[in-house]
Amino acid sequence: MENINRKFNAAVTAVGQFFPDEVLDNKYFEKIVDTTDEWIRTRTGILERRILRNGATSDLAANAIKDLMKSSGLKPEEIDVIIVATVTPDMLFPATACLVQEKIGATNAWGFDLSAACSGFLFALKSGAALIESGGYNKVIVVGADKMSSIADYTDRNTCILFGDGAAAFLLEPTTDLSIGLQDSILRIDGVGKDSLYMLGGGSLNPATHETVDKKMHYIYQDGKTVFKFAVKGMADVSVEMMEKSNLTSEDVAFLVPHQANKRIITATGDRMGLPREKVMINIHKYGNTTAATIPSCITEYYRDGKLKKGDNLILSAFGAGFTWGASHLVWSMD
Ligand code: UT7
Repeated sequence: MENINRKFNAAVTAVGQFFPDEVLDNKYFEKIVDTTDEWIRTRTGILERRILRNGATSDLAANAIKDLMKSSGLKPEEIDVIIVATVTPDMLFPATACLVQEKIGATNAWGFDLSAACSGFLFALKSGAALIESGGYNKVIVVGADKMSSIADYTDRNTCILFGDGAAAFLLEPTTDLSIGLQDSILRIDGVGKDSLYMLGGGSLNPATHETVDKKMHYIYQDGKTVFKFAVKGMADVSVEMMEKSNLTSEDVAFLVPHQANKRIITATGDRMGLPREKVMINIHKYGNTTAATIPSCITEYYRDGKLKKGDNLILSAFGAGFTWGASHLVWSMD
């Protein structure tokens, strides 16, 4: 265990989420690209996803934090830090964290954006927990938020059917009970992934021009097959490694919380860990791939459905663009 020298662990003490009301089901995509409900269901597990027509990622994140504040009584001025995991920031700068800060009225907070795609929430959780463990901060918000519809090409059947918009947030607070909260994480990056999942336009390499727009460089490109192969191996390997490092057997694990990119990747990871299907969290059928929001929204929904209890061992696991990947051992801390 990593926590032997710590005075505090970071515990999750409140959760919140936000999904826009508008639903795009698979039938909708049958009308706009050459696909079928059957293909999407069987190849991905997705039945529908939510789309935000008006507004941006900061609105998704702010609404998720407002939901968290409403359910917990947290006041905005109590928040010390806001970390926004996203690949769809409202703009290159200022940081989405600043826009969220203003929208929720967190007058005493600092914060920043964290770009790690589908692993963004795991990286943000570790970063937020490190701030708590340092002893310097008492209330850290980590929020995963992505408006994937803003970068999806709705003429490309390979990608547009996969993604949705959403956000979910955790409040992290210190606890001296080292048996709960974030226990350990194994996090990795490898730039080899730059060739198979990216958005080329709009950064310093390819600033926006008529040409970048004409070449559709402001949309997601994914070589699905290659990413699938890396993801199946990467997520399963790191999840098993996390279990072993934490001395957990499959009986000890209450839930695997996998990033929701493809039901087949999720199932393969659960199988490699020796977990029965009911121990694998899933909500991809309702929301598709919401990138940084998938893991905290799964946990928020399962908690609110009464399926989590204090002391439950959760293995959180993700794989995404970069490549980025990793797993965390979180012991649930809310009644
Ligand atoms: O979240 C970040 C990380 N991302 C991931 O983890 C995603 C990893 N990749 C995947 O989940 C899968 O690769 C996809 C769901 C994206 C694609 O599934 P696949 O089983 O790997 O399909 P494929 O790319 O191998 O394509 C198989 C066929 C192709 O046709 P041909 O070449 O065999 O004639 C595609 O053109 O399916 C075709 N296809 C579609 N057909 C109907 C691709 N997209 C569609 C579609 N509807 N929407």
